[in-house]
Amino acid sequence: MATEYLAAPGTSESDLETPALVIDMDVAEGNIARLQSWANANDVDIRPHAKTHKTPLFARKQIEAGAIGVCCAKVGEAEVMVASGVRDILITSQIIGERKINRLASLAAEANIVVAVESEGNVRQISEIASNLNVEIGVIVEVNTGMNRCGTAPGEETVALSKLVDSLPGLRYDGMMGYEGHVVANRDFEERKTEAVRSATTLVETAEQVRAAGLDVKIVSAAGTGTYNITGMVEGITDLQCGSYIFMDGDYLEVFDDFDPALSLLSTVISVQDGYVVTDAGKKSISEDRGLPIVIAPSGGTVLSLSEEHCKIEVSGEASNLEVGDRVRLRPMHGDTTINMHSHYFLVRQGVLESALEIAGRGRVR
Ligand SMILES: Cc1ncc(COP(=O)(O)O)c(C=O)c1O
Repeated sequence: MATEYLAAPGTSESDLETPALVIDMDVAEGNIARLQSWANANDVDIRPHAKTHKTPLFARKQIEAGAIGVCCAKVGEAEVMVASGVRDILITSQIIGERKINRLASLAAEANIVVAVESEGNVRQISEIASNLNVEIGVIVEVNTGMNRCGTAPGEETVALSKLVDSLPGLRYDGMMGYEGHVVANRDFEERKTEAVRSATTLVETAEQVRAAGLDVKIVSAAGTGTYNITGMVEGITDLQCGSYIFMDGDYLEVFDDFDPALSLLSTVISVQDGYVVTDAGKKSISEDRGLPIVIAPSGGTVLSLSEEHCKIEVSGEASNLEVGDRVRLRPMHGDTTINMHSHYFLVRQGVLESALEIAGRGRVR
């Protein structure tokens, strides 16, 4: 099979084949530096969620800036990171079943691996496999602090599971996490603040109960991009799991402008019709799970609909001058799910391609 032709470094952005997922590197690096300097000033650690960028290069940039490691959602993502030399990984999802736990244990032979748990059977199986393979796996209990997705109930249930983890061979009890995903993108700052503080306080209080039971709670991890400066101010929270801040997306830009947009999708007009144009980016290259993409340039375009490989855009103003072959720059409302569809990023500085970067962790959902 012929390999994909990828534009050479130095190519102008306007000459990239489309649809092309473009990262403005100056902006992405600026976002990394901005969150890190906020964290440094506020005495909290950053453990960014790598499920957003899914690439060792960006993990390395985050760690070089001062992050204490990265989070991953799946063993497959963690395998990509470890293979590239990332040595501190927190897996924020429960890893279930013998085969996956075996893979987890293999990673723990090479790197510091911490995994989230919430059920006794899972904890016992991780302990058994880790002991048989003679490795130590760090374990944190995921606490349901209000999102009502996964997690143990705060208080007694978390204390009991923490004690079990602490008592079993092959496991190192590290602490707990509680992701306030139900509120991270709330557009109202006061509402976001009230609920994020409540959620983080619940987590910190539970950590205190576990400490009162005699355990050492090192990790009390929480937060997404939209709550970094709320959860990060709650005394007792040790590290922040923000992911989207690195690139931002249309959804988060409706929450705040604390970070700048680095991610866009370049597409090309393939048809000009009466009142609308069609470009070559559809559901297979830009997600719509959080709403239709936004037209960044030219001005005056509004996305009407996506089909698999077509984007229908209503045109007025500057966009009415679009001709076949012209470029339209789109912003996805949701970065993570858009990135997951692409094999490469096109990393750009000031409109010129620096490199095409394989998105090694994309599709690593197992
Ligand atoms: C457990 C967990 N932590 C952190 C994050 C990162 O959140 P964000 O992308 O909002 O920064 C997510 C995102 O869904 C998550 O599921």
